[in-house]
Amino acid sequence: MIEFNETNKIFYLSGKSFSYLIWIDPNGYLVNLHYGGRIESDDLTYFDMRTRPISFSPIPPDADHWFTLDIAGQEYGSYGQGDFRTPSVILCREDGDASSRFHYERHVIYDGAPALEGMPHCRKGGQTLALVLRDVLSGAKITLNYTVYEQFGILVRNAEIECGAQPVCLKRAHSFCADLPEGEYEAVCLHGRHCAERTPERVPLGHGTYTVSSTRGASSHQMNPFLALAERGCTETHGSVFAALLIYSGSYELSAEKSQTGGVRLCGGIQSLNFSKKMAPGEKFVTPQVALCHSDGGFGALSRAYHDFIRETILPPALAYARRPIVINNWEATYFQFDNEKLCKLADEAAELGVDTLVLDDGWFGKRNDDTSGLGDWFVNEDKLQGGLSAVIEHCKRLGLKFGLWFEPEMISEDSDLYRAHPDWAIGKADVPRCTGRNQLVLDMTRPEIVDGVFEQVSNILSTYAISYVKWDMNRHISEFYSAKLPADQQGEFSHRYILGVYALAERLQRAFPNVFFEGCSGGGGRFDAGMLYYFPQFWTSDDTDAYERAKIQWGTSYAYPLSAMSCHVSVCPNHQTGRTTPFETRGAIASLGAFGYELSPAALSEKERELVKQQIKAYRELEPLLQRGDLFRISNPFESNLFCVAVVSKDKKEAYAVGMQIHAVPADTDHRLRLAGLEEGALYEIAELGLKLHGSTLMHAGVLKPNLPDFGSFVWHLKAIG
Ligand code: DGJ
Repeated sequence: MIEFNETNKIFYLSGKSFSYLIWIDPNGYLVNLHYGGRIESDDLTYFDMRTRPISFSPIPPDADHWFTLDIAGQEYGSYGQGDFRTPSVILCREDGDASSRFHYERHVIYDGAPALEGMPHCRKGGQTLALVLRDVLSGAKITLNYTVYEQFGILVRNAEIECGAQPVCLKRAHSFCADLPEGEYEAVCLHGRHCAERTPERVPLGHGTYTVSSTRGASSHQMNPFLALAERGCTETHGSVFAALLIYSGSYELSAEKSQTGGVRLCGGIQSLNFSKKMAPGEKFVTPQVALCHSDGGFGALSRAYHDFIRETILPPALAYARRPIVINNWEATYFQFDNEKLCKLADEAAELGVDTLVLDDGWFGKRNDDTSGLGDWFVNEDKLQGGLSAVIEHCKRLGLKFGLWFEPEMISEDSDLYRAHPDWAIGKADVPRCTGRNQLVLDMTRPEIVDGVFEQVSNILSTYAISYVKWDMNRHISEFYSAKLPADQQGEFSHRYILGVYALAERLQRAFPNVFFEGCSGGGGRFDAGMLYYFPQFWTSDDTDAYERAKIQWGTSYAYPLSAMSCHVSVCPNHQTGRTTPFETRGAIASLGAFGYELSPAALSEKERELVKQQIKAYRELEPLLQRGDLFRISNPFESNLFCVAVVSKDKKEAYAVGMQIHAVPADTDHRLRLAGLEEGALYEIAELGLKLHGSTLMHAGVLKPNLPDFGSFVWHLKAIG
């Protein structure tokens, strides 16, 4: 709900779990009066800072005595006019003066959300306040968009910066700034590395600036574009927490700055390091969107809000709740060593188990027999696949299997026909030795002719063969941020333009092949973000398929992203990443908490395990609607305890699915009560696996006994309301 009170000049923005109040103060400055728990539309102008003198805080020339930007809650931080906190925008004029002073000019409130051309954005719903500000110093116009998703408790923001009559150089362009009230906050980030993505880390927020960011040209394994600020003591179920989640996949920054008064500025957007954009009069720059969430119900409620929001407004609508392909992927089964015979055998075994799609991973194209060559040559390696790709696809078809194919569209190997023909297509300078990563260079996706070239090659394959699924990988980060074709004074746009090129290619391919299912990947979960999920309804969560490591990765990923976005496969043991052996049932149980599949050769399984695969697939298909639409409750934290446990509860609370995994067996662990969550207090549930019939209140407050389990042993419980 968005209201404007003409009398006190306050905008009231409210969702399920928050209110956000913006005041047009008597001098035309926008002042934030409240962001936090939902409140009534009271007059909060009593927070006016004019009454509280503070030393060493400059007062703008057009403001009342004591009004200072140094203290007042701002909507978009300015530079050079006495707000010493992190600025949201830096507009440098031709004489080098970079200060800005923003005044409210007008506003409009409308139903719906702004559509961002060429960038991922909320597809539907919401109500939007567009606040137009004018920088009285440069003449630039800034439109701040606030879209309220009342039902989710999410506030989506972004900014549109339009150059006024004077040219400017834009040196920073954040998506938002939210000045939170003073408090004792703890910052939570999702850090990681390859094979260990999105590990939650929680630290007290002291004075100064805490930043999470990526300068890698991708949102990265190392730090997800998510930052939460929780009140001290906030738990899964209780307490207040704010969070920002960028709908963006490139280099970014998010920061929390605790100021002298104890208030915190939460802000961010695209990465400012080496960013600049020259703007001519009338030119516009649109920032990516950020989804802000405030929860009064702890981290659990925060995550559920993001899950609903992503499923309803970000994922491709036709696929968000569609039956997902249950794939068998040949990567861990064969790596680069395969031929038609091996693939057809894999298909035979897969079809027998009930899998519906065979995915051929890396190595089918160019002269690619290892990772030193071939990227960019998207034509079939007929030496390796004698009889061609059609023979394998036809074989799959006869078995009733669909076929999927791996691409790494943004990359080029120096040993490739593409590189030999176009050495200048790689990022950097062709005559200056460049950094390699996994022996490869990155294509300059800022150049439309290169995006066209990749589109043609990939679409040629997709239109020649019956392909129903594409895995889009990306296996290195950008080091040389330089395009041979951009003028010197536009190189500062490189990083953002790169990701716009990726989005353009994804969009074009999806439009051209609406029946192909695209899964994202980046050396595992290196670009797992809400921007990518706009194009790819699921993303390969991590290259680490070990059930224990995966449980932790999926736990961290679920802070912001729904289960249906996490692609999860069962693989063989000893696990290829950790060497660990876990029970087959546990691998199935952990993988069932996502978009399910296999990454193995069934020939490597025992007869009993092959039977289990059939059961797992059948059970997963029955559970899929619940997993895709239900509410997730994190019950036992594998980072802090010896047990991993989560439950998914249907929206009507009639059904639930709980998965648990013991990390290490403990002797005499006889009275460990596990309390479930999210159930209907008064409803009677049957847990078939335990032979129990208990009320929701009993299951949630008294709990049930955790089974005694061996190392990495697991349980799955299906709960059905029976009365
Ligand atoms: C990294 C991916 O995460 C893997 O699943 C696999 O596709 C390899 N790349 C192939 O090179």
